[in-house]
Amino acid sequence: MTSFAVLISGRGTNLAALARAVSDGRLNARLAFAASDNPGAAGLKIAKKAGIPTHLLDYSGEKRAAEGDLARLCLEEVAEWIVLAGFMRILSPSFVASFRGRIVNIHPSLLPAFPGADGIGDAWRYGVKVTGVTVHLVDEGVDTGPILAQKAVEIRPGDTPDLLRERIQRTERRLYWKTLAELFSSRPPRKEL
Ligand code: GRF
Repeated sequence: MTSFAVLISGRGTNLAALARAVSDGRLNARLAFAASDNPGAAGLKIAKKAGIPTHLLDYSGEKRAAEGDLARLCLEEVAEWIVLAGFMRILSPSFVASFRGRIVNIHPSLLPAFPGADGIGDAWRYGVKVTGVTVHLVDEGVDTGPILAQKAVEIRPGDTPDLLRERIQRTERRLYWKTLAELFSSRPPRKEL
């Protein structure tokens, strides 16, 4: 069965939605572990409650060391895919190259519009009428890899940034597991594992 790791830095609502999709059989894969660069990430508690192994990635030193630990974890715990869900670190080009085509990210805008750390706020401040959610493969750039799926979210009269954020995150929770289910079933397993 395909297996994946989820990397988080914060709340972990996408992680929770993916864990639910795995446990009720919508996503036919094993969630090998969740890892965070942030010891205070609320998502770590969610993972523990769901019985998912958790790990901390120590970014206090060199990025290379943290990524070395991540690569080792993926081998030891057999994670074929790395799924980013609010992970606020940029993976180095050499790490991305070693997992080429096996790292997926979700971003809260219709890329290539509004990449970066605040896709929802940037779209809101620009005043667009439609924004949305993108799931894409990770390459060496920031929010630039090949797009796998997108879903538009309209900005309605009377919206506030909070209402928009809520609708976008609801859309994320529906789009991520479906996109991963299609992706996992379309690729052969990693030979290295
Ligand atoms: C999501 O909006 C995701 O698109 C972005 O970071 C946020 C993470 O939220 N990359 P959560 O931690 O899954 O609640």
